[in-house]
Amino acid sequence: MLVGWGGNNGSTFTAALVANRLGLSWPTRRGIQKANWFGSLTQAATVRLGDDIFAPFSHLLPSVNPDDIVVDGWDINSLNLFESMQRAQVLEPSLQQQLKPHLQTMKPRPSIYIPEFIAANQKSRADNVIEGSKQEQVEKLMSDIAQFKKSSNVDNVIVLWTANTECFSNVLEGVNDTAENLKLAIANDHPELSPSVLFAYASIAMGCTYINGSPQNTFVPGVLDFAQKKGVFVTGDDFKSGQTKIKSVLVDFLVGAGIKPTSIVSYNHLGNNDGKNLSAPKQFRSKEISKSNVVDDMVASNDILYEPGEKPDHVVVIKYVPYVGDSKRALDEYTSEIMMGGANTLVIHNTCEDSLLATPIILDLVILAELFSRVEIKRESWSDEEYTGFHPVLSILSYLCKAPLVPPGTPVINALSKQRSCIENIMKACIGLPPDNNMTLEYKVP
Ligand code: NAI
Repeated sequence: MLVGWGGNNGSTFTAALVANRLGLSWPTRRGIQKANWFGSLTQAATVRLGDDIFAPFSHLLPSVNPDDIVVDGWDINSLNLFESMQRAQVLEPSLQQQLKPHLQTMKPRPSIYIPEFIAANQKSRADNVIEGSKQEQVEKLMSDIAQFKKSSNVDNVIVLWTANTECFSNVLEGVNDTAENLKLAIANDHPELSPSVLFAYASIAMGCTYINGSPQNTFVPGVLDFAQKKGVFVTGDDFKSGQTKIKSVLVDFLVGAGIKPTSIVSYNHLGNNDGKNLSAPKQFRSKEISKSNVVDDMVASNDILYEPGEKPDHVVVIKYVPYVGDSKRALDEYTSEIMMGGANTLVIHNTCEDSLLATPIILDLVILAELFSRVEIKRESWSDEEYTGFHPVLSILSYLCKAPLVPPGTPVINALSKQRSCIENIMKACIGLPPDNNMTLEYKVP
């Protein structure tokens, strides 16, 4: 169930699910294009199992087939999914027409709109809202989840936030700092509780994994405490789709090569509704925070290059330019110190196609969260019966998140290759294969 179902990501994800399930194809200037899941780790990437043997990720362990996913959700805007897809201007018109009969019957459920948390420029979209107190709103969400589970007959419901970026919430003692206080604050209609916190609360209360695809701090201590007490999985924050993904590769490469990045400057301009919302300072601030810590672990790993506490200058700029629509431009300049005081500058221009990059990530988050919610592990010293599930904060999915949420006191890993190895090696461990060590000693013996 998607929160923000009628947005660019929500409608593109839904269109992609249907197009792939039906095996649709459509004419383009370059010929016939078939539906696919390029950009998805689970559907379009492989894992090395041995000499020249590669298997699709999705074949390693029994995991959900995208064709079996039933999608539903909420949006503060009432357009049906066909109209949302048209508004998003992401997919080709001839594909849209083929999808019309399937998408026009899908209509988002009314959602919680609290104007203080998203940009004022979103107000005109809010024509599909749940009225009432926060307690009543949470109860409505819970009944929506129960109703959907029953009517769709799915085994497992996962709730994923792909609605607009909210401003950060203040963490207040006695309000959102523990599960008990959060419950009371909802009953008392406290103004500091954002829509995303209410969604996370309702989802956890219903035992449904909750995924945060946006940068705001939905996972305040009270929400995390509630997830832990209920043993429900949560993961986030903020889809890692374009600029940050490249950054978490490039800085890992530079620092790993003994080259010292000293200044990283990232400009973005985009013209979709996400960009419009991010043009407001408080919502931009949430994104800026989410984008800013991505190089920290790589810098901290090399005390030959960096003094303790020293970091590269790192600046992020986002501007709203309606004309470019969903084709977000990300321009990055990396300046690094090389030997003898030399400087090396790399400049990257990336036309992102925002929602086509984010959609496969949404699919992977859902499929992998469901998969890892079924995996159990144990320490060597435990008896054979003593298996336990993973920690409710599912940090294994860091690969897909810009600002990975981790259990308190554990390290945050941002480097993309390490994040990928984590998923790959845990999956291999489940079928009794050793982690890939890349030594290939068999080829190095004379
Ligand atoms: P969008 O603006 O097209 O869609 C957001 C949808 O959420 C809109 O339809 C809006 O009406 C709805 N909405 C707003 N508040 C709501 C609420 N309280 N309840 C239910 N619906 C609500 O934005 P887009 O492009 O789909 O992005 C969605 C989110 O994903 C944004 O927060 C964005 O920052 C985040 N994100 C997107 C990435 C990408 O597209 N490449 C990458 C990383 C994060």
